[in-house]
Amino acid sequence: MNGNTEQSSHVINEIRTRITEKGKISFSEFMEVALYLPGYGYYCSDEKQPYREDYYTSPSVSPVFGACIAIQLRQMWMLLDRPKEVAVVEIGSGNGVLSRDITNAAGKLDIEFADSLKYFSTDIRDEVPTQITGCVISNELLDAFPVARFKILDGEIHEVFVALDDNENIVEITERSSNSLINEYLNSLETPLADGQKGEFNTGIDNWMARVSDILKEGFIITIDYGSYKDDLYSKSNFKGSLQTYYKHVYGLSPYQKIGQQDLTAKVDFSRVIESGAKNGIFNIGLIDQAEFLQNTGIVQMQNHLRNISLNINEKQENLHSIDMLCRPENLGGFKVLIQSKQQTELSLEKLWPSIDELESFAKYTPLKNNDHIKILSNKYSNSYIEIDDLFEGFTETSNQ
Ligand SMILES: C[S@@+](CC[C@H](N)C(=O)[O-])C[C@H]1O[C@@H](n2cnc3c(N)ncnc32)[C@H](O)[C@@H]1O
Repeated sequence: MNGNTEQSSHVINEIRTRITEKGKISFSEFMEVALYLPGYGYYCSDEKQPYREDYYTSPSVSPVFGACIAIQLRQMWMLLDRPKEVAVVEIGSGNGVLSRDITNAAGKLDIEFADSLKYFSTDIRDEVPTQITGCVISNELLDAFPVARFKILDGEIHEVFVALDDNENIVEITERSSNSLINEYLNSLETPLADGQKGEFNTGIDNWMARVSDILKEGFIITIDYGSYKDDLYSKSNFKGSLQTYYKHVYGLSPYQKIGQQDLTAKVDFSRVIESGAKNGIFNIGLIDQAEFLQNTGIVQMQNHLRNISLNINEKQENLHSIDMLCRPENLGGFKVLIQSKQQTELSLEKLWPSIDELESFAKYTPLKNNDHIKILSNKYSNSYIEIDDLFEGFTETSNQ
């Protein structure tokens, strides 16, 4: 096993102990330990901050991302009748760059809005307020929730488990699924899954929506992530599933390498977020591409502003190129933005967008990148890409029917 550092050994020991006690653990439990074992998991290690080293996210690319969200939050504040105090709770805020960009932008856009804004930047170990009026926001949180993995064999759903072989090596086994949540959901898909098809089932979404409903008394939820509706997620275009691993910008190692040291993530099933939201009193306003969301919240006006101001040529290029990354469909622009609401009369997305005149006037506050943001033009961040199945190949896999 590679990457046998002290941190990895704690994680691996915990996984072995659990397997020894139970005979096998679900992939979801394996992922939970690998990412969240207190003190040692990828996101809970006391040793290292994963951000910047393994992957980048929209907030780390450009402060314009946070400025567009600030514009959206101001619009939501107005729809809530400009309360004297509006809370924004960001969950999974990581290194906090988005919260800094949003609060900085708010202060420039509208002083009355900024004065009423109470921003809570929280991650896994933090207390979160409840019963707020305002907005719950997350960027790339749901894709980091543990997932169960399945495979269709002879027309039946099989779940992937993690076990130990006779030589105590960690191995995958697949068994006919007895998980009623997974079975009911997959059996209700309009297009039946094909033989050989693989996929994931996010085990955190239902709890998440119940939690959001507890945090939010009245207001909005903005969920930004990569993924799609279930008919696309479970179609032939994702035949091998969507589980991804990231280690120092290399994409596609086996999940059983670098355990506790590499990120594990899977596409988000936004249909389930919407359905689970409805069960928790949360209304779906709409799901759109990140590029479209940013266009409706002023990114084009900010881009034009940057083109026209006098700025060192390298700085100008760095800032403009970063905006391009946020919007390009094959890059971060293809991410999805889901907007939901609670205790609001039915709203359409159009009601959330400021007028073009407002967007023009906000553009004079276009923020420039600072040390919080990664440098794009140094070329360090072109991800290596390796097909995941090629690397899973050396890995022992057996099937218990
Ligand atoms: C992929 S990172 C994204 C960080 C940041 N939002 C960004 O865009 O750069 C996922 C973050 O979600 C956090 N996280 C995962 N599960 C969580 C939970 N249940 N509650 C709060 N934070 C969580 C992780 O600790 C991690 O910081």
